[in-house]
Amino acid sequence: MKTLLITGGAGFIGSHVVRLFVKKYPNYNIINLDALTYAGNLENLKDIDGSPNYTFAKGDITDEVLITKLFEKYKFDGVVHLAAESHVDRSITDPFAFIKTNVFGTANLLNAAKEAWKGNMDGKRFYHISTDEVYGSLGETGLFTEETSYDPRSPYSAAKASSDHFVRAYFHTYGLPVVISNCSNNYGANHFPEKLIPLSIHNIKNNKPIPIYGKGENVRDWLWVEDHARAIDVIFHTGVDGETYNIGGNNEWTNIALIHALCEIMDRKLGRESGESAKLITFVKDRAGHDLRYAIDSSKLQRELGWSPSLQFEEGLEKTVDWYLANQEWMDNVTSGQYQTYYKKQYEER
Ligand code: NAD
Ligand code: TYD
Repeated sequence: MKTLLITGGAGFIGSHVVRLFVKKYPNYNIINLDALTYAGNLENLKDIDGSPNYTFAKGDITDEVLITKLFEKYKFDGVVHLAAESHVDRSITDPFAFIKTNVFGTANLLNAAKEAWKGNMDGKRFYHISTDEVYGSLGETGLFTEETSYDPRSPYSAAKASSDHFVRAYFHTYGLPVVISNCSNNYGANHFPEKLIPLSIHNIKNNKPIPIYGKGENVRDWLWVEDHARAIDVIFHTGVDGETYNIGGNNEWTNIALIHALCEIMDRKLGRESGESAKLITFVKDRAGHDLRYAIDSSKLQRELGWSPSLQFEEGLEKTVDWYLANQEWMDNVTSGQYQTYYKKQYEER
């Protein structure tokens, strides 16, 4: 019997992790702590709501009193920490929100775990979910390994890098049993439509321009979100204390090639003529400090813990489109209200 705190479980990746753990480990007691910011959505978890091994707690990871109380109440054996501000564009307009949640919030959780577990850290684990963006930007060749020096360039990646440093500092200084993973770009169901793939699906469906920053030559390494959730399960249960594991899809695409592939799928699914959706592609002003290329070497995770991605990108993209087309109500709910103001500011007034 284990009691786990999962933070950020109402978000994109977190909801897939919570679902996997709740279904796979009926003997675990899983507490999902989420502040329900614009990115958090309990609709993502309505299929497991009511499961006897699952509890939702609304709260902020930066709240010191709350976090201490939760550790006292539930006596967590493990933490899987995903809660974060996650969108680079928002970090450019509001960096302090990222410092607060990603840096202070993580430090607050680490400190609460250290206090709660001091004297006996046996069987405990603090798992911090991070990003490949901490490594900076690659040129045309090379891959990020676990040894690549940190070189964050956006307020988002700087805040994530800082939180990673605090996690390692708590390992070395206090002996907190930590593990970290750094993953490439995820895609799949429940992805908030501020990120490239869901935003483009939404716009294509509605015959709105698809905004491509710069020339669309930036490269990302895309991983299906359920494969990330599986990697998190494997690392949480079999990773080694103090170690870092890179997670990636071995699946590099320039943004423009990806959007062309997506447009072809959308044409087919929506019964449009081939080439029709691609006419919506619109090149817009580049993102400030736009990282050119991310690509992950995940061989350590594959070799040492036996994980590998399960899905080819073309198949995953098709599944993702199918999910969005079948879940129009989800999209309607998340794109009403605040989203309209964000979209206007980000795309129409830039
Ligand atoms: P997301 O923005 O979809 O979800 C974040 C969740 O955290 C939301 O449910 C939100 O309500 C919650 N949250 C935000 N601030 C909070 C606070 N102060 N207290 C409590 N909850 C708070 O993000 P995501 O894409 O699911 O990313 C999850 C984690 O994975 C993040 O740590 C991110 O850095 C990391 N990551 C994401 C990707 C990606 O491609 N999306 C890739 C690698 C790593
Ligand atoms: P995004 O999904 O925001 O993820 P990240 O910045 O964390 O990699 O962006 C993926 C890529 O797509 C990135 O190179 C920026 C680009 N992009 C666009 O060209 N247009 C857009 O509207 C968005 C949101 C992103």
